[in-house]
Amino acid sequence: MLRLAFVVLLSFVPTFAAGQGRPILPLNAHERAAIERRVEDLLARMTLEEKVGQLNLAGQHDVDPEDIRAGRVGMVMNAIEPRRTNELQRIARSSRLGIPLLFGLDAVQGFRTMFPLPLGQASTWNPRLVELAAEWTAREAAAVGLHWTFAPMVDMSRDPRWGRVIEGAGEDVFFASIIAAARTRGYQRGGMAATPKHFAGYGAVEQGRDYNSTWIPTAQLYDYHFPPFRASLDAGALTVMAAFNALNGLPATAHSWLMRDVLKRDWGFDGFIVSDFNSIGELVHHGIARDDAEAARLALLAGIDVDMVGYVFFHHLANEVRAGRVPEALIDDAVRRVLRVKFRLGIFEQGEISDAVALAQLETPAARGAAREVARESLILLTNRDRILPIASATRRIALIGAMATHQDDNPWPGPDGSRPPRPETVLQAMRRLAPAGTTIEHAPAVTDHCGLELSDLAAAVSLASRSDLIVAVLGEDCHEIGEAASRTRLGMPGVQHEVLDALVATGRPVVLVLQTGRPLVLTDVVRHVAALIQTHHPGIEGRTAIAEVLFGVANPSAKTTFSYPRSVGQIPIYYDRLNTGRPYNPGERWKSRFRDEELDPLFPFGFGLSYTSFAFADARPAAATVRRDGSVEVSVTVTNTGGMAGQEVAQLYVRQPVARRSRPLRQLAGFEKVMLAPGESRRVTFRLAADQLAWHDDQGRRQLDSGRVELFVGNSSQAPKVGEIEIVD
Ligand code: BGC
Repeated sequence: MLRLAFVVLLSFVPTFAAGQGRPILPLNAHERAAIERRVEDLLARMTLEEKVGQLNLAGQHDVDPEDIRAGRVGMVMNAIEPRRTNELQRIARSSRLGIPLLFGLDAVQGFRTMFPLPLGQASTWNPRLVELAAEWTAREAAAVGLHWTFAPMVDMSRDPRWGRVIEGAGEDVFFASIIAAARTRGYQRGGMAATPKHFAGYGAVEQGRDYNSTWIPTAQLYDYHFPPFRASLDAGALTVMAAFNALNGLPATAHSWLMRDVLKRDWGFDGFIVSDFNSIGELVHHGIARDDAEAARLALLAGIDVDMVGYVFFHHLANEVRAGRVPEALIDDAVRRVLRVKFRLGIFEQGEISDAVALAQLETPAARGAAREVARESLILLTNRDRILPIASATRRIALIGAMATHQDDNPWPGPDGSRPPRPETVLQAMRRLAPAGTTIEHAPAVTDHCGLELSDLAAAVSLASRSDLIVAVLGEDCHEIGEAASRTRLGMPGVQHEVLDALVATGRPVVLVLQTGRPLVLTDVVRHVAALIQTHHPGIEGRTAIAEVLFGVANPSAKTTFSYPRSVGQIPIYYDRLNTGRPYNPGERWKSRFRDEELDPLFPFGFGLSYTSFAFADARPAAATVRRDGSVEVSVTVTNTGGMAGQEVAQLYVRQPVARRSRPLRQLAGFEKVMLAPGESRRVTFRLAADQLAWHDDQGRRQLDSGRVELFVGNSSQAPKVGEIEIVD
């Protein structure tokens, strides 16, 4: 009998003390006008040098206090100790105009309490939890004096070779937009300005090679790459970060159409745009600027407001203005944007941070509880042959293999007093704690460390495995294999880990593979040989405990894939919302759109994930046969837990317009909802489908909608069956 962990969520919702980390809420017209008056008043009193200073984001290690005192620094990144932020802020307040600094950081998956990496958070398919993780992240970072997070990353990518997919929400734009909004709301309610990044197209880098070029038609920018930015801005994001890549030959950092036309003019964005790390200086390498001075000019003219640690605005912008090459009005516009954000954050009114107050707000039991809940829901059960999981209580000897099983790889920022949080439980410790009486767990690393690059006494691991009833292997990608500048061409487990897995499989004992990766790997051979496979994306400080809970059935997995898993690297890019082509695949037919040596379908479809219980979908139907172009229609379905234990299922609605003026995807996600059901329990889930969700963009980026038939698919993955049709009518 499983012991299912039910969590009383309300206790994990942060409550705010006055002071740092005030929720950033929408302003009314009166408040907005008051801020604009303060901005204009201050701007009118600033010298050109002071204005340029506000556009300079300095690094915590290279910032010169004298520059702060002279008003030549507007922001500092990576200062994470109250002692340091207080000290720098005191200097800023002693400058001629006393404009306080804005402190920024990549507070992405947590500050002290580490949550699963963003792709893991997204795998919960639970926007409420994603929002909660962002809120706790900001709450803790704000407690030590930070105002601004360089997150969420909302870049769309269909290419798991790109290491930064770990920071995103997967391949689907509808889904990613919902996650982008949730993360933005969470960060800002936690008191930090959010920064959707990187504008735009960064996730489409050719070959998945980081920083590489992108070639994206306008229609696809609007259909696929822009919506998560819009969603984040609609949720109130105060700043935006520009991308490193060149888009259609022009670096995003110098792309005035992207920044001035789309973002600032068309979308009315009134916050500021920060460059990426030294990306202004990199315009020289891109080959569009002769030197830093020209780079500074091009970036500013194109719409970058703030220079991240490049010091090119700092060194050159005032000269460019004096030489008449940059209008001062554009500098004023950038400064207004920066000051607006500072006023909105209430930094002018903030006092000093007390170490004791900050410390008390870090890693509270409530934050740890939230991290546990998110981690539990982030683990995707991909295969479970013969229901080998959860581990039967009669299992006597478990061999736990892999250095990752004893590794504590979270990298929390130190506390105000320089302290690190207590080490999290390892998988080994958590399994030993949760194992039923009579079950023993012995560990062998098999590899030298969690990077998995070198063997370490494989024979001992094999010998242990051979003597066990069940093998649990914890393997995957870590170290320099995930994240930024971690593009890969072979999407297997790095190093010697396949050798380890093969040796374990050869023992004939059943192998449960717990995979910690930053992306979907190519698992075609792996799934043939393992009995069960749990996909994790580095699940954070409570993650190993959550893994043990899932292994022993204390928690029931409920996560879903956010990518179509490729069968081989050659299938990439593979995504479910593809077009049909003129020669749709038909097995056995020669002249069709297909591979000679590979199937067309993914190994695991988008939206897929197993549970320890089973679910049935019945009686799916739209509430009406037609919908007006400006209207919406409800589509509902009954979901029943047909198995023996409580669990959560994600009901998913997909749509397809078979005939339109442009070829439309075979299906598109149009709604999803995660529901908790007790054994035997049924719930009617209702999606509201707006006709406008079928819209697409033309080559000029104009939104278009066609009347006509719409097919509906409802189920628990992107391979859900067709359940009916509606018609969009004029
Ligand atoms: C990354 C950004 C990040 C910045 C600051 C850059 O290399 O592309 O996403 O915010 O560094 O750490």
